[in-house]
Amino acid sequence: MSYKNTIGIIGVGHVGLPTVLGFAELGYNVIGVDEDKEKISNLLDGKPSIFEPKIVELLNKHLSTGLISFTDNLVKAVKSCEVLFVCVGTPQKENGEADLSQVERVAILIAQNINAYKLIVEKSTVPIKTSQWIKKCIEMHLANNEEFDIASNPEFLQEGKAMDNFFNPDRIVIGIESKKGERILREIYKPFKEKLFVTNLNTAEMIKHASNSFLALKISFINMVSDLCDATDADIHKVAKGIGMDPRIGPSFLDAGIGYGGYCLPKDLRAFAKIGDQYQVDFSLLKQVDQINERRIDILVSKVINALLKFDGKTIGILGLSFKPNTDDIREAPSLKIIHQLLEKGYLLRLYDPQAMDNIKQVIPSNSKVIFTSSPYEAAEQSNALLILTNWDEFITLDFSKIKLTMSSPVIIDGRNCLNPEEIKRLGLKYYSMGRS
Ligand code: UDX
Repeated sequence: MSYKNTIGIIGVGHVGLPTVLGFAELGYNVIGVDEDKEKISNLLDGKPSIFEPKIVELLNKHLSTGLISFTDNLVKAVKSCEVLFVCVGTPQKENGEADLSQVERVAILIAQNINAYKLIVEKSTVPIKTSQWIKKCIEMHLANNEEFDIASNPEFLQEGKAMDNFFNPDRIVIGIESKKGERILREIYKPFKEKLFVTNLNTAEMIKHASNSFLALKISFINMVSDLCDATDADIHKVAKGIGMDPRIGPSFLDAGIGYGGYCLPKDLRAFAKIGDQYQVDFSLLKQVDQINERRIDILVSKVINALLKFDGKTIGILGLSFKPNTDDIREAPSLKIIHQLLEKGYLLRLYDPQAMDNIKQVIPSNSKVIFTSSPYEAAEQSNALLILTNWDEFITLDFSKIKLTMSSPVIIDGRNCLNPEEIKRLGLKYYSMGRS
């Protein structure tokens, strides 16, 4: 451990909290700040506001070591920390642009309370040139002549693997244009010095948007190929494997299904397309990627309708509501759009997810058409079809012969291609998936 001062992390959500815990595990003193008082008091009680593997253990460990503290008092953190990582939300506005109002509020408060040199590190995903804009914003509100630097350190953590990603990063991108700021960040990230990629502010911000947009593009591409596989009796798993063996393509992010969701990919892709518009660069490619992704919902719903034509029942069990496994996050989850479409068409739904039930109950009203269940087996009972919308490990090892006995008609529609078709069919269930017809 080389950096001796307390590190401030502003915003302790999906990005900020793993950062607090990761730095503490490296041995640094860290203070996490958030304006949400309830979140702070829960964190102080060892209760994180998000579900993420290893978070509870690390939180309780470092509340005990005393390396972490939490506060809702941003001014106090500004005064006591030299380095402040900004991890506040940058939600999407109606027009697809990023809403920077939380970043602006933080920048102004830092400027008004500056009491010594500060290094302000932007970690939230923001449009290109935001770091330069933050710099101007701070200069405009600066309370005195104290020095400060701005850095961009985009976050590449994946939900569900946040702590593993923190300790095993592919790369740590740093945009910085001052020697002093660069020296401090190199000190902080010394344990990962082989992975540092230092560049200027705009380039660092561009890397983040380009990465997420490219990942989304890869997923939409394989989803189009999967539709073609459905139409031609080819097998998308084998096609993905076959193309992924080419190192220029690579095997990851080629899982076809109901499309990408979550807080980042959809929002960042739209924001990148907007940035293209702003600079008269035609990024209609990205708009297509988005539209292809939206169409995944209709494709899944059509599969349900086609499968159920042969049956007169109308109840559908749904396994998996979070946008991907190992998280309780349902933001932009494909499941939400599928649920709405199925309800509009008059189906009765029985919903189950290992972690996202509390979140789903806040957005899907409980009524006679929706039953929240407490196990995958309960969701399957009396169903005419069972949909798998998130590839949680626990769904792969379910006892499908037991499930078959309780269903009204034994139909599985696997939106994530996570089950073995031969095994399911051998048990006498009808099985539909995406691109493996
Ligand atoms: C993403 C980026 O991967 C991460 O680097 C960035 O910091 C935040 O955004 P995350 O939102 O956690 O991470 O999810 P990710 O693992 O990228 O998956 C996004 C969505 O794509 C999920 O809905 C997932 O189910 C879907 N997906 C992923 C596919 O449909 N197919 C794939 O092959 C991979």
